[in-house]
Amino acid sequence: MNKKKRIIVLFTALICFIAAELYAQKDISLKEVFKDYFLIGTAVNHFQLSGNDTLAVSIVKDQFNTVTAENELKWEPVHPRLNVYNFEPADLFVEFGKKNNMFMVGHTLLWHNQTPAWVFKNDQGESADRETLLKRMHEHIQKVAGRYKAQINGWDVVNEALDEDGTLRQSQWMKIIGEDYIAKAFQYANEADPEAELYYNDFSLENKPKRDGAVRLIKKLQSQGIKIDGVGLQGHYKMDWPSAAQLDSTIKEFAAIGIKVMITELDIDVLPYKDISAEITLTMDNQDKYDPYKNGLPDSAQKSLAERYSDLFKVLVQNKNTVDRVTFWGVTDKESWLNYWPIPGRKNYPLLFDREGKPKQAFDAVVKTSKIN
Ligand code: XIL
Repeated sequence: MNKKKRIIVLFTALICFIAAELYAQKDISLKEVFKDYFLIGTAVNHFQLSGNDTLAVSIVKDQFNTVTAENELKWEPVHPRLNVYNFEPADLFVEFGKKNNMFMVGHTLLWHNQTPAWVFKNDQGESADRETLLKRMHEHIQKVAGRYKAQINGWDVVNEALDEDGTLRQSQWMKIIGEDYIAKAFQYANEADPEAELYYNDFSLENKPKRDGAVRLIKKLQSQGIKIDGVGLQGHYKMDWPSAAQLDSTIKEFAAIGIKVMITELDIDVLPYKDISAEITLTMDNQDKYDPYKNGLPDSAQKSLAERYSDLFKVLVQNKNTVDRVTFWGVTDKESWLNYWPIPGRKNYPLLFDREGKPKQAFDAVVKTSKIN
């Protein structure tokens, strides 16, 4: 073979290799890869549900078997004013889940954020009393969880009821009703849809004091005979928090009290930021030093993110008998909430698919962990 021919043959082989690699990558689907381990899913937003982001929607259909509504079922959008419900966006979510045969998670019935101020007020604009607020909570849960009875498969009944030290957060729910507001919320949810799974969901449960608080809370509900099926670790992780060992012991500790464990809002923040909490009311001003990857994530950082995902997924795979579901908080880096929280206008890279919807190194790293045992 002369030199020219050799170059042509080599070039053709190279093209075939690249095409095969691309094809193989396209074929890899997380829901297939993890099908014997846990459900794998993503939060979906209104832009996707209303058909305006077809790229993200095709990724959701190819890759995931469970979806969570990112905002559509929170009190504020679904029940903005007294006696006024807006179910249109939430209906789109449920239609989408049904059409694609997905396990649907309702997020969330009770929270201190994204809940309008009127909820906690009486007709005179003063603080509502316990009885009024309980009645309001009951009606809300009946209407929302009742509407999607036998359609939405699991509910984050109460979101973020704990402070970092493991005591109950002094939210309006807590101040007005008292600590049994949590038990009541679970009872009402069970009444509205007896088949639905019911979860307690929070961030930073990997930290010991808060985890202990959650264990106390769940055990108390169990001892009162109240149905609670699972605990959601939100999973808004950083590059250096939590450690793999911390995640492992957290999963094991919750499994030991007999409930399902799920990672419900997974993303890994690659940008510099001091606090580890996921409290959404925190905000900071933007500065260049907090937004170092405006022009793209360098390969070294891409690689570190892949390693970080790999370390955490190894723990999830090793605990596959107790981890029930892993849900990412968004489909591609483009729409992640971490681009606008806690500092608006930054460019973050927390997920497995890049802004063009292509799988990142982190995607390959996650897939590889499925083969470790
Ligand atoms: C976030 C959404 O992603 C944003 O679109 C919204 O503006 C604020 O809330 N913990 C939760 C989620 O339980 O509901 C939050 O979602 C992220 C932190």
